[in-house]
Amino acid sequence: MSNIAQVEQLVQHIHQKYKKFDDGEVATYIPELAKANPDHFGICLATVDGRVVRVGDWDREFTIQSICKPFAFQMALEGFGREQTLKHVGVEPSGDAFNSIELDPKTMRPFNSMINAGAIAISSLIKKDPPGAGVDLFVEKMQMAAGRPLRIDQDVLASETETGNRNRAIAYLMLNFGIIDAEVDHTLLQYFSQCSLLVNCQDLAMMGATLANMGSNPISGESVFDFQYIKDVLTVMFTCGLYDHAGEWAYGVGMPAKSGVSGGIMGVVNRQMGVAVYSPRLDAKGNSVRGILACRDLASELGLHAFEFTNVGSNFMESMF
Ligand code: DON
Repeated sequence: MSNIAQVEQLVQHIHQKYKKFDDGEVATYIPELAKANPDHFGICLATVDGRVVRVGDWDREFTIQSICKPFAFQMALEGFGREQTLKHVGVEPSGDAFNSIELDPKTMRPFNSMINAGAIAISSLIKKDPPGAGVDLFVEKMQMAAGRPLRIDQDVLASETETGNRNRAIAYLMLNFGIIDAEVDHTLLQYFSQCSLLVNCQDLAMMGATLANMGSNPISGESVFDFQYIKDVLTVMFTCGLYDHAGEWAYGVGMPAKSGVSGGIMGVVNRQMGVAVYSPRLDAKGNSVRGILACRDLASELGLHAFEFTNVGSNFMESMF
């Protein structure tokens, strides 16, 4: 049996193991998200040499939500460089929830680009005139990374725009401290649109694999991201990607990752693969319950933890490459 077949068998096994697990609740604070089928459960791995393993509901579409944040951060770094970007956002874990209304008391910057405040500051930087042009650029990049055409879910965008007053409050707080400019509605259109991009598990795994592959899509070979900034993005994902669960995640799973409230988790195993899980039931911190369990099992079985030395699983990986 080929090694990819063994990996496929393992992913099937993990999917089976957690299939009936129904802890957690679907997000309802954005009314459109409440319509998700809580039983959907998909897993996909995409390697940097173009192999793809996909199991369960891997092709169900859902909105990317906060998993847009690392990519928007990458775009800001590419457009404005480190010095300019870091005037608007820090790289410090906040230990707070994703929607925390708190800025760094010394600099008045958001703590990092993975929480809403930081992502809104980044959206303010990468928005373009006329309103919507910056969204088009974001969608184009995401399509290149996923390797297929993608679109915004207009119903989720409308729902989030209508109910996103907490994000509006965060934006006005940052306007008050000069972190973002006065075009608050334009900034929020950029942010809410990014969050409303429809993807499936395979798209997220390919996007993760593109980061793992130094910015080139492993299947098309197209260069999508400037590799000099990928280490910035992966570092912030590693330390802040799962908000107030980030420490436990780094300890127990050990790969840069980002979660979203629609139930997706995307992980990046540098120079090896992208990992994606979709399961809409969330824990109290807004992270997918089965997503965390499946990633933890994958990491331990395949030896994917960044600081793993010895593991039977790592033999799989060595012989796959
Ligand atoms: O800002 C929001 O509320 C959402 N559009 C994104 C939040 C999100 O996905 C947080 N992740 N767990």
